[in-house]
Amino acid sequence: MTDYLIKNESSEEGPPPTIENIEIYHQNASTVNISSNETKEKNLLNEVYETEEVKLNGRMLIAQDNTCFWSGLTTQGKKWEVYQGNSLSIMSSLPNDTFHCIVTSPPYYWLRDYNVEGQIGMEWKIADYITSIADVMDQAKRVLAKDGVLFLNLGDTYYSGKGQSRGIDKKSKKRRFGLRAVDANGLGVPKKSLIGIPWRVALEMVNRGWVLRSAIIWDREQALPENVKDRPSRSYENIFMFVKSKKYYFNQKALEGQKEDVWSISARPKLTPGISTAPFPDELAQKCMDVGCPPNGNVLDPFAGSGTVLRVALTSGHNATGIDLNPDFCSFMVKKIKVL
Ligand SMILES: C[S@@+](CC[C@H](N)C(=O)[O-])C[C@H]1O[C@@H](n2cnc3c(N)ncnc32)[C@H](O)[C@@H]1O
Repeated sequence: MTDYLIKNESSEEGPPPTIENIEIYHQNASTVNISSNETKEKNLLNEVYETEEVKLNGRMLIAQDNTCFWSGLTTQGKKWEVYQGNSLSIMSSLPNDTFHCIVTSPPYYWLRDYNVEGQIGMEWKIADYITSIADVMDQAKRVLAKDGVLFLNLGDTYYSGKGQSRGIDKKSKKRRFGLRAVDANGLGVPKKSLIGIPWRVALEMVNRGWVLRSAIIWDREQALPENVKDRPSRSYENIFMFVKSKKYYFNQKALEGQKEDVWSISARPKLTPGISTAPFPDELAQKCMDVGCPPNGNVLDPFAGSGTVLRVALTSGHNATGIDLNPDFCSFMVKKIKVL
């Protein structure tokens, strides 16, 4: 389902949407004209706009359902935007070559229920999950600047084939949700096998034209060990570094004095009371941006959750855009961002 439609009123291509000269149509149809200077003068910094229709430089953004768009400036003048909705359809409405760095962690395969219709991660077939993520990444490639960099964090899943779990997951209640494809019969891999999800996604993205520059290991320090007796407990995840051109921004200095492709970072993120998004640790988001984002860059997280990437980007001097399907997560991240 398309959440937003773009009607380009000026020309086919049109200028990329910016925060300047926004006309905001509230539900009660009152229209507010704001330029960025006026915004500062009127002390409207960080105001949250929940809109049905937002007109951006001649481009009309129309929410077709209850989806929302929020936008503002930090006290340092950094621009942020949060879209609540499906990342595939929202990204389809964003202009080409806009973001210098995309840092994201999509939903893993059958590991968590985000309680929202249309969520990725609960596809009955492995191939459908791979397609869902790769389709979003096609859009990520289009909106990524020509010299931009994408950091994609993905975790793997085992195929148990044991039928619906009746036990209590000590780590997280959110990880038990009826019969999962990875517990049911017929997933197409041998029972007890690691599925290889991150590499399946990465190779599909390469097939679709992405350049895979590094498969960074995130050594998840202080991660709770898995309760397993017949295989090594997992302690790392992949962070794939993708680009779309031969020349791109890469700040190797940010990796000095350490193994460049093994990042030892605590798996303990900031607490996000009231919501459960499997957040990134701040340090991981920071490292991706230190390595792959030029100063004053535009950063995007198409699966923004609690807004870790946006918060870290804005406090590091970048502009930030986030998308998430879950309205509660969007409200949470907007609350955190608007005080920056
Ligand atoms: C692993 S979490 C991201 C956590 C985030 N990195 C953080 O620091 O909080 C994945 C997110 O993807 C969102 N999501 C799932 N399906 C989506 C979809 N189709 N479009 C947009 N967001 C989606 C979930 O609501 C969840 O917040």
